[in-house]
Amino acid sequence: MNFSDSEIVASVMANDDHRLVDQAADADVIFLNTCSIRDHAEQRVLNRLKELQHLRKTRPGLVLGVIGCMAERLKEKLLEHDELGMRVDMVAGPDAYRELPQLLADVEGGRQAMQVILSADETYADITPVRYGGNGVQAFISIMRGCENYCAYCVVPYTRGKERSRDPASILNETRQLIQAGYREVTLLGQNVNSYRYHGENGPVDFTTLIGRVAAADAQLRIRFATSHPKDMSDALLRQMAAHPNICKSIHLPLQSGSTAVLQRMNRKYTREDYLDRVRAIREILPGCAISTDLIAGFCGETEEEHQATLEVMKDVGFDFAFMFKYSERPDTLAAKRYKDDVPEEVKTRRLTEIIELQQALSLDSNKRDVGTVQEVLVEGVSKRADSHMMGRTSHNKVVVFPCATSRPGDYVQVRIKECSSATLKGNCIDH
Ligand code: 5AD
Ligand code: SF4
Repeated sequence: MNFSDSEIVASVMANDDHRLVDQAADADVIFLNTCSIRDHAEQRVLNRLKELQHLRKTRPGLVLGVIGCMAERLKEKLLEHDELGMRVDMVAGPDAYRELPQLLADVEGGRQAMQVILSADETYADITPVRYGGNGVQAFISIMRGCENYCAYCVVPYTRGKERSRDPASILNETRQLIQAGYREVTLLGQNVNSYRYHGENGPVDFTTLIGRVAAADAQLRIRFATSHPKDMSDALLRQMAAHPNICKSIHLPLQSGSTAVLQRMNRKYTREDYLDRVRAIREILPGCAISTDLIAGFCGETEEEHQATLEVMKDVGFDFAFMFKYSERPDTLAAKRYKDDVPEEVKTRRLTEIIELQQALSLDSNKRDVGTVQEVLVEGVSKRADSHMMGRTSHNKVVVFPCATSRPGDYVQVRIKECSSATLKGNCIDH
């Protein structure tokens, strides 16, 4: 999400005659695009801001700006030098990127500037993101912004505002431009893509229809999407995925907790059984589809039994991959107002370790099942670990490393899987 926002910012700035530089030390303007989801993310931003202050000595006119979620959450607090122990020149929330050139003009002469008003309809639909830092094979397309689910632990509804969907025509245009530029995979991004809904002149377009249109743009283009909310994951979408071989057979479906009581406290609006029913539907309509998830250890009031329930559901589903977090209280969220963050730190750590260890075993099992199979791999580039090897991903979003001097980024190659770890598949190319 953040990366996609940075590409929009790069585009706004390019239109104002700025250009990207590789090193912070060469920049006249530095924007830190920030995330507030966990306290740790914010602490990292503050450390980075401190590190960057020394550049003011060599670049006296340097403008340091904080943009994105943390700007939205902390607002003028980020401009108070004394409280922060350092100077920030500009603060701009996630709906203020079009105004960055104006804000830059405002900070000239040592003034500070801030714009954090959230919009009900900004989707940056007409802005063509400047793709940078990527591999030229994969790109993200932001299809909606904001979220109104108010999961009790989550700061996003407060920092990114109301949910709004982007005009499908502009999404298809962007898709076609990416195809023209040689991209082979797009990920449609939103906080809750299943509730995408655009009311156009020809009636409403939902996510199932949208992804069908994007998939029809080019059979050689792989389509992924994130993130799905279990409460809105429809059979119709699963059938649409089945109908299009180029929609990757991999679904990210955050569980958060395997205990219905915890899910209720989290305001997730589904039970353990509802979640398992969605997994059943995926298995039935898309046999072999990979399922990944997000898990939170040690949410407010979580008992040992409730933690065990998460481990049970993990085993029942056999997740292929998971992002796993310790609960981090975020100011002003429903959980911060209603519940005590009462699971001791060492208990959170122990529970998270148990979750991570179980997931490693599940990922290994999942990868072992692929040994001996032939997988279609979209090549992304040279492997980081070994120059002589290439790396790419399967439709299931698994990383594959293989020796193949003749393949290039963007090629589809058939790879016979020979061995695996919990994180990577290794194999040999069979058609080069
Ligand atoms: N503490 C820990 N994890 C969180 N997430 C969101 N908010 C919090 C929080 N306060 C996790 C959820 C979400 C993912 C993007 O981040 O698992 O799905
Ligand atoms: Fe946060 Fe829940 Fe919205 Fe995801 S769906 S962004 S977890 S409020």
